[in-house]
Amino acid sequence: MARQDLRGKVAIVTGASSGVGWQAAVRLGEAGVKLCVTARRVEALEKLRHQLNEQGIECLAVPGDVTVQGDVDQVVRECLTHYGRVDILVNDAGVQSYGLFDELPWEHITRIFDINCFGFMRFARAVLPHFRARGSGHILNIQSMLSKGAAPLLTAYSASKHATLGWAKSLEMELMGTGIKVSNILVPSVDSNMFAHAPTMFGLAPKPVPPTYDTDVVARAVVRCAMRPGKTVVPVFLQGKLMLWLNAVAPWFGKWVMGNWGARMQMRDEPVDRPDGNLFQAIPQGVGPHGPVPPTPKWVRYSATAGLAALFGGLVLGVAGIARAVR
Ligand SMILES: NC(=O)c1ccc[n+]([C@@H]2O[C@H](COP(=O)([O-])OP(=O)(O)OC[C@H]3O[C@@H](n4cnc5c(N)ncnc54)[C@H](OP(=O)(O)O)[C@@H]3O)[C@@H](O)[C@H]2O)c1
Repeated sequence: MARQDLRGKVAIVTGASSGVGWQAAVRLGEAGVKLCVTARRVEALEKLRHQLNEQGIECLAVPGDVTVQGDVDQVVRECLTHYGRVDILVNDAGVQSYGLFDELPWEHITRIFDINCFGFMRFARAVLPHFRARGSGHILNIQSMLSKGAAPLLTAYSASKHATLGWAKSLEMELMGTGIKVSNILVPSVDSNMFAHAPTMFGLAPKPVPPTYDTDVVARAVVRCAMRPGKTVVPVFLQGKLMLWLNAVAPWFGKWVMGNWGARMQMRDEPVDRPDGNLFQAIPQGVGPHGPVPPTPKWVRYSATAGLAALFGGLVLGVAGIARAVR
């Protein structure tokens, strides 16, 4: 598809009070998009609106909860009243909860689906009548590497993201020929507030599976996707394209690493008492795109890539050598 000019387009960004959503709104605004931002935290949204206005970017802030149909309808209605149109929906709002599957409260499991999966669907259903009437529009979903992969302690989150990707891929087919596009971005671990907001059953602060990337990596992918809609994008190499390839050729490897060390990898030696986190109510702290876990330095990521390449190169050569010797 030809590259689209984003100037003058209108985007609704959910989950914009923090992390990826916040930074995506900033990057879209810088590309000329007018914004309607939403999340539960009014103060954080106002702070974002103020920051964008200071940059000369038009922004409407409409607070709401993605699990409340009335709030979702209200966001879309206010956006249409204010701008007269909506061109792009960035579905971003998301939560997770850390715990063994059988120890996660059932309410956490259903709430994660209600936000991560049904929240995306609610917003899509709210904008689709408008998109259909205009014969154009773009639903851009912030997915996860866990939309395809898996991790211990995040069973409900991973299931919700798999479900959301399945929904998005089916919707994409359904909308073929209508002028409405669906895109997905498979996000790796990023330095957002997600880990400082998530509930945990372990009493230890959660942390992302390394390596961790700057939230801006995803925000820039959102802009690229908005320009060329209709793709499923993996914006990074090491914890992105390489992992998908590894999972395809040697699925035992990821299972072995994550099964043995995945749980420990996701916990810091920092006690925390957060049984419900931000699942049912927003947590006021942690406003802005970045959280307390800094991105992994580039040299560490490059060294890990080189190490993995050497390991698999060695394995392939070894297997080839054995095969030749046996022949
Ligand atoms: N961080 C990562 O490593 C990572 C990795 C893969 C995928 N992702 C995906 O990236 C997206 C954004 O996450 P993030 O990393 O930016 O986390 P974040 O900093 O915690 O941001 C999550 C956003 O979702 C909003 N939200 C949560 N529950 C909501 C609800 N019920 N109604 C409305 N808004 C709600 C939060 O705002 P309020 O609290 O103000 O409502 C916040 O703006 C999610 O879809 C997540 O699955 C993140």
